Amino acid sequence: MKDIKSQPTIFVIYGATGDLCRRKLTPALYNLSLDGWMPEKFSIIGTGRTALTNEEFRNKLLEGINQFSRSGKAEDDKWAAFAKHIFYEAADLNNYESYQAICDHINKCEKEWNDKAYVIHYLAVAPSLFPVIAGNIAKIKLAEQRDNTRIVIEKPFGHDLESAKELNQLLNENYREEQIYRIDHYLGKETVQNLLAFRFANAILEPLWNRNYIQYVQISVTEELGMEGRGEYYETAGAMRDMVQNHMLQLLCLIAMEPPNNFNAAEIHGRKVDVLNAMRKFTPEEIKTSVVRGQYAKGWMQGKEVPGYREEKGVKPKSNTETFAAIKFFIDNWRWHGIPFYVRTGKRLHQSSSLISIQFKDLSHFVFPPEAVESWQQNRLIISIQPEMSIRLQVQGKRPGLAMLLNTVDMVFDYKTTYPSYTQEAYETLLLDTMIGDQTLFMRGDQVEAAWGLLMPIIRTWMNKPSLHFPNYSADSWGPELAEALIAADGFHWISLPMNNKP
Ligand code: BG6
Repeated sequence: MKDIKSQPTIFVIYGATGDLCRRKLTPALYNLSLDGWMPEKFSIIGTGRTALTNEEFRNKLLEGINQFSRSGKAEDDKWAAFAKHIFYEAADLNNYESYQAICDHINKCEKEWNDKAYVIHYLAVAPSLFPVIAGNIAKIKLAEQRDNTRIVIEKPFGHDLESAKELNQLLNENYREEQIYRIDHYLGKETVQNLLAFRFANAILEPLWNRNYIQYVQISVTEELGMEGRGEYYETAGAMRDMVQNHMLQLLCLIAMEPPNNFNAAEIHGRKVDVLNAMRKFTPEEIKTSVVRGQYAKGWMQGKEVPGYREEKGVKPKSNTETFAAIKFFIDNWRWHGIPFYVRTGKRLHQSSSLISIQFKDLSHFVFPPEAVESWQQNRLIISIQPEMSIRLQVQGKRPGLAMLLNTVDMVFDYKTTYPSYTQEAYETLLLDTMIGDQTLFMRGDQVEAAWGLLMPIIRTWMNKPSLHFPNYSADSWGPELAEALIAADGFHWISLPMNNKP
């Protein structure tokens, strides 16, 4: 790995008074620093509309760290050592002249360090500001040092195919693709990174990893949370733009991609784009039969009454925004032709859980008598991304006793048992990668466009035909009944892990 210690680095965080910076970015940078991953010379400069002194800004970040950091409350001396690297400049990000203060800060650091710095511009702002800021950074020539300037863009990348193309074009006019880091934080999760290791480092899997042995794949990311104050943003997104276009399709690509020739970013990006390009496009008829949308009504969750989506702050009383989506995809290539990939995601569901389940085809011939196989289940591989971090292979085994009776048993690899001290979070990995200059876990421009291209027919249909049935699932359920019907029609059901924390 590149020696990061000796690389002077400046993070410029746009939208630094926002939630992302407080909850995720600074706790991640702080923990990288505690673990010895930050360069010896580094500076973090936050910028936003609010007028704040450096001290006020540092205090805000400290509150965020105390509340959200995985390492708990910051210790005074450790915080003091970190905080001296943090600065704040109020700026009107629409006006390119106000970027001069950032240039001055960079120049000052470089002079002090007597060295050129790597500058990472992190756009933690509303998507509508991406083009403006990316343009202004270029206009004031902050991006000219092409080898050591990077721009990090949070999702959602564009609002639809057209706006994603426009944003890519604008970025490509001013930055090389190697400078652009499109974040999808799912790719930084340890269990998601492990999908590559699991698939491509184990010889036993590859022969089975195809349409001859696999019956279906399910990817399910269910959340108990509702809007958490993000109603206004969510109204512009919905489950499709917020989760499916990015996190869900990225997971699908990692499961379905061909083996890369080597572990470099271009190879991995290329194999993922191949999957997206092979995915079957939706006709109007298929949208009716293969796609389900939902919106939650009020209900009770863990003994507390929770509002319906339309009662959330920032949400229109007759909103047509979907808070749930279930889709049956097909990938028309040699490996996967005819194998359904069921994907579902939603808010205010019964359990927070991100699972990938792969069901293998049944035996071609049964040798056991009927009474032995009463609890028969086909082999399944269940990869739990979170909160449980595990991989379980469900196989049949003999139940102990005098008779030959079979049972499904789990062979489990569980992170908690195998790596009890593992702790780092997705943003730590991703922020370190932006410093190192490794784009493997980021999205390339063509990938983002291919994902939009696939979903646009559904998004357009839903926009043009508001649902007459919203809200159509209650909080604390598993989503609309039609989502069950979608998979039941093929003879399957959605899989969940046994819950430890619920009756
Ligand atoms: C974000 C979405 O990208 O991912 C949120 O905007 C969602 O709506 C979140 O809740 C889920 O991330 P995680 O890491 O909590 O699974």
